[in-house]
Amino acid sequence: MTEHIKIESRDNILNLTFARPDKKNALTNAMYGVLTDALLAAETDPATRVVVFRGEGDKFTAGNDVGEFAAIATGAFQGERHVARFVEAIARASRPLVAAVQGRAVGIGTTMLLHCDFIVLAEDAQLSTPFVNLALVPEAASTLLMPLRIGYARAYEMFALGETVDARTALHMGIANRVVPLERLHAEAAAVAQRLARLPAGSLAATKRLMRDPEVLTAQIAAESECFAERLTTPEAREAFAAFAERRPPDFVKLAR
Ligand code: COA
Repeated sequence: MTEHIKIESRDNILNLTFARPDKKNALTNAMYGVLTDALLAAETDPATRVVVFRGEGDKFTAGNDVGEFAAIATGAFQGERHVARFVEAIARASRPLVAAVQGRAVGIGTTMLLHCDFIVLAEDAQLSTPFVNLALVPEAASTLLMPLRIGYARAYEMFALGETVDARTALHMGIANRVVPLERLHAEAAAVAQRLARLPAGSLAATKRLMRDPEVLTAQIAAESECFAERLTTPEAREAFAAFAERRPPDFVKLAR
């Protein structure tokens, strides 16, 4: 539903806010659809010079809605999957993308940050990519971008063990640009966005394109998507989704017996 994404445009800055705080801003197909349409519109709108991602409430986002993962796995979900459009849109975005992150950023909440150009974390921010815990594989070109950003050893640990990385560690590892007190988060992100908005947009876009080739990213996304789709329907994934719904730890070892 559109009301779960807030879209505000002011002073050449487009603010896209995840607004489903009762579900920790877990992202649904409909939310990805709204986000993607806004990002694509921004690409052709000369008035939009910077995009800022934010989350309402105490968490940035709990990642993809796990109920929808389960519905896809059982075939109950039909229709266009907007997550693929969203991931491609952030990979191809020519405008600077800024993220303001508080509390948890789970799954795509963290992998989407690898497509953001400037990341401000609140002191309470915690990043995690527990795809393997859900018997899935990482997405959004993170299997390429995360090892590039923080090295293979640390990327593998985040992906395989699903370990949570706190704000200071994320800053130290080079995932983020700034850590600020929670009450300063949105002001700091807005200040960065305003600075970027005043810079020559053509030069910024060209610099970004030289630093990250969208064709390379989208090729990796395609490879990941194929693997992700296969994984979604495995007995391992069914066990992971059932465990989430039943609020119990999954038992993957029993599947090998
Ligand atoms: N998908 C669907 N619903 C989710 C969700 C998700 N990814 N994350 C949280 N929710 C829902 C919970 O089911 C709960 O719903 P309810 O109130 O109807 O029971 C509500 O949001 C609040 O979540 P809760 O777990 O009570 O909040 P918390 O503050 O204790 O914990 C998290 C927050 C993010 C640590 C925890 O919700 C979590 O681990 N979520 C799953 C994250 C995940 O695996 N995402 C997929 C990554 S690939």
